[in-house]
Amino acid sequence: MSAINYSEKIPNNVNLTNDRTLQRALEHWQPQFLQWWGEMGPTDFEKADVYLRTAISVDAQGWAHYGVTRMPDYRWGIFLADAVPGRSIGFGDQMGQPVWQQVPGEYRSTLRRLIVTQGDTEPASVEQQRLLGHTCPSMYDLRNLFQINVEEGRHLWAMVYLLHAYFGRDGREEAEELLARHSGDADKPRILTTFNEPMSDWLSLFCFTYFTDRDGKYQLKSFAESAFDPLSRTCRFMLTEEAHHMFVGETGISRVVKRTLEVMKQLGTEDSARIRAHGAVDLQTLQKYLNFWCSSSLDLFGSEISSNSAANFASGLKGRPDETQYEDHVLRNKTLNVVTPEGAQDVPMLNALNEVMRESYLKDCEIGLKRWNRMIERAGCAFRLSLPSSRFRRAIGAWAGLPVDPQGKMISKEEYEKSLPGWIPSDADKLFVHSLMQRVIEPGKMAGWIAPPERGINNLPVEYAYVKLH
Ligand SMILES: [Fe+2]
Ligand SMILES: [Fe+2]
Repeated sequence: MSAINYSEKIPNNVNLTNDRTLQRALEHWQPQFLQWWGEMGPTDFEKADVYLRTAISVDAQGWAHYGVTRMPDYRWGIFLADAVPGRSIGFGDQMGQPVWQQVPGEYRSTLRRLIVTQGDTEPASVEQQRLLGHTCPSMYDLRNLFQINVEEGRHLWAMVYLLHAYFGRDGREEAEELLARHSGDADKPRILTTFNEPMSDWLSLFCFTYFTDRDGKYQLKSFAESAFDPLSRTCRFMLTEEAHHMFVGETGISRVVKRTLEVMKQLGTEDSARIRAHGAVDLQTLQKYLNFWCSSSLDLFGSEISSNSAANFASGLKGRPDETQYEDHVLRNKTLNVVTPEGAQDVPMLNALNEVMRESYLKDCEIGLKRWNRMIERAGCAFRLSLPSSRFRRAIGAWAGLPVDPQGKMISKEEYEKSLPGWIPSDADKLFVHSLMQRVIEPGKMAGWIAPPERGINNLPVEYAYVKLH
């Protein structure tokens, strides 16, 4: 069941040959996807041989095969986690009833919207990252970037499969639109703001994979609970791939911190200007990048108080991440105290689920912060990195557009505007970070602003030539 059929045009474990209509529709979409990859994927590396992993099964153990391939030849396909026999709905008003193998008519447009919104983020991130290959800090990092890119492409396939298989003509049209919108495009932008932010340096990439891919993890986890079983199975397998993306973010930032501490020790100073002059990222600048990408990603969870979140949960479309860890799965009689600019208020729990999710996300984000701060503390440095308050720089929800400082305190508009360049990367900060982005591609060598990783990929040495350029 979990083995993947690679003998077909589209690798899959959903018996695509048994459904000729669907197979034809997807084979029609495939060249459009490849054209999109050629135009919007990583620039100028079509001919590079890259050491990539590809899914060969959907078992948690031993699911991946590592080998050298050119990115345009990557075998993108459709991989669903195995069905859980007798699975029943785990939350909401229909809790305990059998899960759905087809989309109930009354939820059709809502489900389609949820799938399209998730699907839109996958190619968007590839577009955001398309130029980064030119400034990679090492060959190891270059390979990781490409691994993430091909897997985000695969995640697009995951969502397009659902659209094609379960939403008929509307779904096919949506699948085409997923290739027509582009990150940052003035006329046809991607759906969510974070996925239209430019990403022109690797510090942003590490923050993006730490914060924004982690939002992805939370969205996928909540869809993994869905009563719509094909969506649940699709997302469960996507989570397996997603872990590596967050690993790149967490270890990337760790390596930046490590290198900065080395430079601080070597120079015997905590002075930002001197650290920068030595070609490392001062911790204050790193803090600004964390503030930017964390606050942007917090918007992805939606409004603090939301009737959509209530409806999606009650109807079984979207659960809470790790739903089984909770006691009450219906939530009709629960409330949550939510603080908005108008004050604290008790809100029906169903309407506060975005906030529940955002809070557990922030707890997950704290894990890396603790690790980095331990490194900083051990180096005898007084500076501490922190996450911004969930009220800071919000564009969606109760705190949208309000002048709040990174600690969560409301301040005057003038003070906010005056202080903002000290809280998120200013033009001068970006210019400095860009100046560090010099390509290093000699195997095993690292750019001066980042420490080497502790180990290579798949038990290979760090010095392995992960990418062969031609
Ligand atoms: Fe993804
Ligand atoms: Fe990802």
